[in-house]
Amino acid sequence: SIRASLQKSSSSALLHRSYSSESAPARKVAVLGAAGGIGQPLALLMKLNPLVSSLSLYDIAGTPGVAADVSHINTRSEVVGYMGDENLGKALEGADVVIIPAGVPRKPGMTRDDLFNINAGIVKALCEGIAKYCPHALVNIISNPVNSTVPIASEVFKKAGTYDEKKLFGVTTLDVVRAKTFYAGKAKVPVAGVNVPVVGGHAGVTILPLFSQATPQANSLSHEEIVALTKRTQDGGTEVVEAKAGKGSATLSMAYAGAIFADACLKGLNGVPDVIECSFVQSNVTELPFFASKVRLGKNGVEEVFGLGSLSDFEKQGLEALLPELKSSIEKGIKFANQS
Ligand code: NAI
Repeated sequence: SIRASLQKSSSSALLHRSYSSESAPARKVAVLGAAGGIGQPLALLMKLNPLVSSLSLYDIAGTPGVAADVSHINTRSEVVGYMGDENLGKALEGADVVIIPAGVPRKPGMTRDDLFNINAGIVKALCEGIAKYCPHALVNIISNPVNSTVPIASEVFKKAGTYDEKKLFGVTTLDVVRAKTFYAGKAKVPVAGVNVPVVGGHAGVTILPLFSQATPQANSLSHEEIVALTKRTQDGGTEVVEAKAGKGSATLSMAYAGAIFADACLKGLNGVPDVIECSFVQSNVTELPFFASKVRLGKNGVEEVFGLGSLSDFEKQGLEALLPELKSSIEKGIKFANQS
């Protein structure tokens, strides 16, 4: 049916109003950091999503304007803006999915880890709010460094007694979006049909695209081209940071990626079968407690974490090389959450 096919294809369903919008269950989505560079276009894309019935836009500043603006769009959801700490509870109450793009972005010359000191505290405070006001929500963390902010969130939730490992996600979708685009360009195949799993984490060499598992397989690509595609995927964020020359990092492509991932979470909650995306989650795939790989999303959040599948020798080396950095970023987050 038209409805099923719309629901199954994640990127196309986003911009279409499905016939089923009135019968889809009520779902509240909260965006924390909604007035920012990512937050604003993400608010727009979530307003276009027919699976959302209530859109809650929270920031420390600027949300009345963003909410008034977005609320005039004639789609299903009711939009409310909330500003300041004292309104965080109302912003979160009843949320099914909470998306967090709050915090400072990179400037040229900075690594994602350079953001740690500011963003770690922001994510911690927001997660304390989530534990209190919507402990059962699926939490999508965009704020960098994701390799550390996700472990921080898990520690906050553990302390509050609300941790459910199935409901905490680091959003690595932009790495997949980039890998698909770069691969399609090199392999000269239409990007719409391309899929590339990206595993590991979300910073530099911890981002490991698995081009050996890309579909459709392009046998024409040389080893050198695969190495270059891997490096470009790992440095995709830095490419944008440099081009923006001090005005921040990826916002529009990140909003797109964040909207794809939140849509997948909503579809999972609504019982749509076979919803699969890559995400940085609690994991047994490697010896590290968190790792990004393909996951199946369902009514409880993560229903299944997929293993790595077969890797090329180059990907095996990449995996070995990323583990120490990812381990130390995870430990840094856990340590921060437990000392402050
Ligand atoms: P931005 O500076 O344009 O926006 C951040 C927003 O967060 C601002 O509106 C600010 O007022 C708000 N904010 C600050 N403290 C807050 C708090 N305590 N509660 C609620 N809101 C708060 O930054 P941008 O470009 O939107 O980036 C946001 C974050 O997303 C950065 O940490 C960036 O590194 C990260 N990012 C992650 C990506 C990923 O693939 N996961 C890709 C690109 C960026």
